[in-house]
Amino acid sequence: MIGIIGAMQEEIDLLLGALEDAVEMQRSGIRYVAGSLHGRKVVVCKSGVGKVNAAICTQVLIDRFNVNKVIFTGVAGALDPGLEIGDIVVSSSSLQHDIDVTALGFARGVIPYQETSDWAADEALVKAAREAGDKLFPGHIRTGKVLSGDQFIADRDLVARLRDELNGSCVEMEGASVAQVCAMNEVPYVVIRSISDKADGSADVNFAAFTVTASNRSFAIVDEMLQHL
Ligand code: ADE
Repeated sequence: MIGIIGAMQEEIDLLLGALEDAVEMQRSGIRYVAGSLHGRKVVVCKSGVGKVNAAICTQVLIDRFNVNKVIFTGVAGALDPGLEIGDIVVSSSSLQHDIDVTALGFARGVIPYQETSDWAADEALVKAAREAGDKLFPGHIRTGKVLSGDQFIADRDLVARLRDELNGSCVEMEGASVAQVCAMNEVPYVVIRSISDKADGSADVNFAAFTVTASNRSFAIVDEMLQHL
């Protein structure tokens, strides 16, 4: 069983439309739709925005639906200046940029007393996502570090800092909490994010304008990769 999470309705609408034999369930305030896609058993859900929602959603997928892979699909703001709106980032790893224990001497983004705070994505899922992306949108796919925090970023200085200090390719609000829950449960994950904005002063306008287009691209990649997993 593969868990597929989006944070917003736009990000899962196409997946829900493509599901066969769909059965709905409600758990911990989140609606889960189980069914099949290209003959693979999947559960699709909308986590809601932010790290806590995404963490609860992922743990329920693992405990109640026994998923053995998790794919997060959606949109993100670019940090890498080489990324354009519509480009796609497949996570090499994910890190929570808003954990800040610097006052106690820990580097920004480090969760104290843990083995890692930068969770590597599953190599096989990354490969499958890249192959699907390279086939559908050649020249528009990157693999890079996804940064997550409970903030919508719309500030050029902050973009430069997140890029310089944490080496992020893109920024969003859920991926690294999904990654942490998956790592703690030894479940493979990958995050696939289409760029909807550049996390700068125009981010709010671009986010609104490009979210549907960018979500469509993310869906196309998930749909294609499921045929090869
Ligand atoms: N998701 C899409 N764009 C984003 C941004 N600029 N900041 C955080 N999450 C986002």
